[in-house]
Amino acid sequence: MACRVYGLDHRLATAVNHSSPTLRHMVQNTIVLSSDTDGIGQAVRFLRAGQLVAMPTETVYGLAGDARNPAAVAAIFAAKGRPTFNPLIAHVADQAMAESLAQFNDLARALAHRFWPGPLTLVLPLRPGHGLAELALAGNPTVALRVPAHPVAQDLLRAFGGPLAGPSANPSGRVSPTRVDHVLEGLGGKIAGIIDGGLCRVGVESTIIGFDEDLSGNHAVMLRQGGIAEEDIETITGPLRRGGHAEKPNAPGQLISHYAPEATVRLEARQPESGEIWVGFGPDCPGAPLSLSPSGDLAEAAATLFQTLREADRLASAGQRIAFAPVPDHGLGRAINDRLSRAAAPRP
Ligand code: TXA
Ligand code: MG
Repeated sequence: MACRVYGLDHRLATAVNHSSPTLRHMVQNTIVLSSDTDGIGQAVRFLRAGQLVAMPTETVYGLAGDARNPAAVAAIFAAKGRPTFNPLIAHVADQAMAESLAQFNDLARALAHRFWPGPLTLVLPLRPGHGLAELALAGNPTVALRVPAHPVAQDLLRAFGGPLAGPSANPSGRVSPTRVDHVLEGLGGKIAGIIDGGLCRVGVESTIIGFDEDLSGNHAVMLRQGGIAEEDIETITGPLRRGGHAEKPNAPGQLISHYAPEATVRLEARQPESGEIWVGFGPDCPGAPLSLSPSGDLAEAAATLFQTLREADRLASAGQRIAFAPVPDHGLGRAINDRLSRAAAPRP
């Protein structure tokens, strides 16, 4: 089998078993698994042994580990180089598993009913006896819960039968992965396996919603813009408050510099300047070598955002800058602009 591993030196890719659909190939000791029953079965064996497996979700690939196993959770922080003050999302198969971990108010239940499974994460007070590893919670009295819609993530969660901690499967602070080869680039050799689920449909991470400090459920708070537009959330919640602050983040999008490519980034670029790789949006960007969406479609732009950021970074030679054309700030455009502004922020 020819292993075409995009963005990687192909000599690192070694076919381990041509006939098995389970083990598609191995890269730097990380096995790329098929998304069928055999592949899911192997992933579950890894997870039960406390090892880490990257899984496809409809937003981005997540780095899954057993959320109840402190060693597995510690391994997630180590593989990503993630600061331990930044808590992890627990992925669950359904509402029943979610309710076993956290206490839902009426508004949270209404949001879950409307948007789960899907790209929504709810931050809710922990239920006594939840069993989650303390490190995954980073000392918070709350847990961030998400029921992913991707059929492979669903299959994995059901076969595993418990909550999976799952941050985006990239080194901390870097661009999130929407394809298997993106995961290999950042974490190849550091994790046991990756389930190949193809391209991530939504392309930006989940929208994170919390609730007022008294947790009465009367007021929902936008903690991170994401794959469900704020306007759609507000049809259930009414006007959202904005939460969190950059010095003490309680959601990752609140870290000022995040999603950082190697090259520096300029925003709102109606024209390229010399020495810039121009990334267009819409039909009015003649000559741009890359575009988030030539027709100006926000869902397409979200789906291609991280891949395009990586591609622009590859095209940019030393000292070149990436310049993004303006993206309208409504619907999924809010999540796109949020990620772009953090990609453009001064690095620590
Ligand atoms: O779409 C997504 O949300 C993807 C996929 C894999 O599910 N996951 C993802 O995880 O983006 P991550 O770790 O990159 O971002 C989730 C963020 C955490 O960094 C954390 O700041 C926030 O959710 N979070 C987790 N627990 C929280 C809590 N108890 N309170 C507030 N924010 C929390
Ligand atoms: Mg992330």
